[in-house]
Amino acid sequence: MSTEIVRRETHGKVALLRLALENKLNPLTDELIDALVAALQHVESEPDVHATVLTGSEKAFAAGADIVAMSKLDYQTAFCEEYIGRGWDRIRGLRKPIIAAVGGYALGGGCELAMMCDIVIAASDAVFGQPEVKLGIVPGAGGTQRLPRAAGKSTAMLACLTGESMSAQEALLCGLVSKVVPRDGLIDEAMRIGEQVARHSLPVLLAIKESVNRSFESSLSEGLLFERRLFHAGFSLVDQKEGMAAFLERRCPDFVNR
Ligand code: CAA
Repeated sequence: MSTEIVRRETHGKVALLRLALENKLNPLTDELIDALVAALQHVESEPDVHATVLTGSEKAFAAGADIVAMSKLDYQTAFCEEYIGRGWDRIRGLRKPIIAAVGGYALGGGCELAMMCDIVIAASDAVFGQPEVKLGIVPGAGGTQRLPRAAGKSTAMLACLTGESMSAQEALLCGLVSKVVPRDGLIDEAMRIGEQVARHSLPVLLAIKESVNRSFESSLSEGLLFERRLFHAGFSLVDQKEGMAAFLERRCPDFVNR
């Protein structure tokens, strides 16, 4: 599925989605988020697509929530219409792996969108930050919650309380991103990782994503039990038999996603 503001390509089992409000640095307007959620939900419905690479435009992954719209917002509307919540919360519920390929600015909601993804690859020119404090607001799409989990308390406090941004290298050092690559290799590297993920059995990928995410919501004992039960359930899969047979027969597995 392709829309004007979210462009889609498909490469084998990987969907590549590009945010394309380029002249405005991809402010995350309701329209853009709705189009993104629709594109991601479409991927969820496609049995042959196992992973998504999400990227922005030349200058920005996304420069944050739409400041033009927010400048007119009052408390009643924000609260009653669940501003930010509606579309964004649906991204959290997606089950297939999403790899963020971040080049340029990933600020405010842009940084939060990257953190909603499962793997974050940054170009050397990427800039991450939670500048909301400079606008007189608190981050609203997870900056105060996901950044401490990804980068630790001190780094999160520094970013959120000062509004100062961090470079790709700083983001790598604090664990916000997995890898920094040259700008011109960003999409190739993200797609390479996407293809590496997508070649595996879909139910196993879904279970791994669910289990890693559960670690942020549960005690260690609960998380370990959850993982153990998924591990046990895996022995019901045809792909478990195939994966182990292929290893023993020294060949590549031919997964059937069952
Ligand atoms: N919302 C709406 N429009 C935005 C925008 C945003 N978040 N960010 C940039 N734009 C627009 C600019 O207004 C400008 O529009 P015009 O061409 O009509 O003037 C256009 O995009 C280009 O921007 P700049 O001229 O500012 O480009 P620059 O290269 O000089 O600076 C920048 C780039 C540093 C990213 C700067 O645009 C900037 O600081 N943007 C705002 C970043 C920000 O504060 N994000 C947080 C938003 S709040 C939020 O996200 C809340 C939340 O947690 C969900």
